[in-house]
Amino acid sequence: MVTFTSLLGATALLAGGGLAAQLTRVDYPNNATSKAQMYVYVPDRVVTNPPLVVVLHSCQSSAQSYFQNSKIPWRQGSDRKGYITVWPSSPNSGTCWDVSSRRSLSHNGGGDSQAIANMILYALDRYKADRSRVYVTGGSSGGMMSNVLAATYPELISAVSLYSGVPAGCFLSSSGQVAAWNNTCSGGQSRASAEQWGNVVRNMYPGYTGPRPKMQIWHGSTDGTLAPANYQETIKQWTNVFGVSQTPTSSLKNYPERNYQTDNYGEFVQGIYATGVGHSVPANLTASEQWFGL
Ligand SMILES: *[C@@H]1O[C@H](CO)[C@@H](O)[C@H](O)[C@H]1NC(C)=O
Ligand SMILES: *[C@@H]1O[C@H](CO)[C@@H](O)[C@H](O)[C@H]1NC(C)=O
Ligand SMILES: *[C@@H]1O[C@H](CO)[C@@H](O)[C@H](O)[C@H]1NC(C)=O
Repeated sequence: MVTFTSLLGATALLAGGGLAAQLTRVDYPNNATSKAQMYVYVPDRVVTNPPLVVVLHSCQSSAQSYFQNSKIPWRQGSDRKGYITVWPSSPNSGTCWDVSSRRSLSHNGGGDSQAIANMILYALDRYKADRSRVYVTGGSSGGMMSNVLAATYPELISAVSLYSGVPAGCFLSSSGQVAAWNNTCSGGQSRASAEQWGNVVRNMYPGYTGPRPKMQIWHGSTDGTLAPANYQETIKQWTNVFGVSQTPTSSLKNYPERNYQTDNYGEFVQGIYATGVGHSVPANLTASEQWFGL
């Protein structure tokens, strides 16, 4: 009798919509030294030629726990709008992304950035996704890696929306350590001119002259983990790369939230500074999707 009842229950469950979409680990062709893992979420209803959003977790996290984190809204966005999300998972101890070794700070240098680029290439192929709509987002270590990916694989990415990171190259390890912490940068003491920061980006992919992803940069004014000075340094970096002034072309106070300020530097760089917000700024799905054009 018990068996019969359980069977009925199982049948009812399946009849009520089948197996719902879930985060799935995927094997991908990976010629990088980094063995970062790839997870993918394909929603139940996918649009044809879907956009891809790559969501990069923070330290002490993973693809699975970031996916399940109620403050990380990208699963809901995917369910609502039918785009696919790719969730890379860090192979490093402490699970920070490697944004410190030359390997990861170079185009095809073999580090985590190359592994993630390989995931993007595979996802485009396997899910017939739209090459012109590949987006990257992440918080904290994932925000740092978003900057690094924009610098190392600009040809793959259309737009980036990053929360509470540091400029690309700011976490450099002079001894070449993988996923090292850099106190000078985290403390806000890595200061350079816009030209120098721009050179850091250009030197990660020498000779590249194609299009680059447009950058949306969020940071909190009371960030005690990655000092707020990193916000201005990141703005300096990307305004230089796009060859635009560090003076905003337009500003909006109390937007997109109260005590946040949005500064536009032409159409490719946008900064959002959150007064009174610490580490890290909570992701705003609507605002990031708008930046991506989703
Ligand atoms: C690895 O794969 C990428 C993408 O297909 C390719 O451009 C690159 O030359 C390959 N080899 C190395 C050593 O990076
Ligand atoms: C920390 O990063 C800065 C660049 O932001 C670099 O000049 C410095 O050498 C790095 N420190 C260490 C210990 O690697
Ligand atoms: C997120 O940003 C949108 C504008 O893009 C804004 O309308 C909304 O209030 C913000 N969300 C929250 C939770 O503040």
